[in-house]
Amino acid sequence: MQQTFAIIKPHAVKSKFSGKIIDMIEAAGFEIVEMKKITMNQAQAQALYAEHEGKPFYNGLVSIMTASPLIVLKLQKNEAVALWRELMGATNPANAAQGTIRALYGNSLDENAVHGSDSPASAARELAIFF
Ligand code: CMP
Repeated sequence: MQQTFAIIKPHAVKSKFSGKIIDMIEAAGFEIVEMKKITMNQAQAQALYAEHEGKPFYNGLVSIMTASPLIVLKLQKNEAVALWRELMGATNPANAAQGTIRALYGNSLDENAVHGSDSPASAARELAIFF
């Protein structure tokens, strides 16, 4: 079994899409090992997105992710990292495959509904920031 880290982003929580997204996670066979609704603090956002520091979208990203509550999840399944990324769809909702979470509930690159770790090493690092 592999674990991965997921976020239901602030705009999706505000739009009341959390339940629908959690349904999709469970229907796809993931076990929700841990889950909590939090407001991410500055230090957590900077640690999570350290690889993006200096990019044009970094400051906006940190402020969006710390502005209002979101849901963090520890998910478990065989091949959880890759399968969660597949269920999320492409980073830009405009390019996300039909039926994926970002195609259904994303609005833009900034409001792309969910986050997921990009490798098992990232998953371990990101999970340790929040759980
Ligand atoms: P996420 O999976 O949370 O990882 C970094 C986030 O930065 C990404 O989803 C997007 O919401 C956001 N973002 C904003 N602009 C860009 C961009 N040009 N390229 C990649 N990610 C971006």
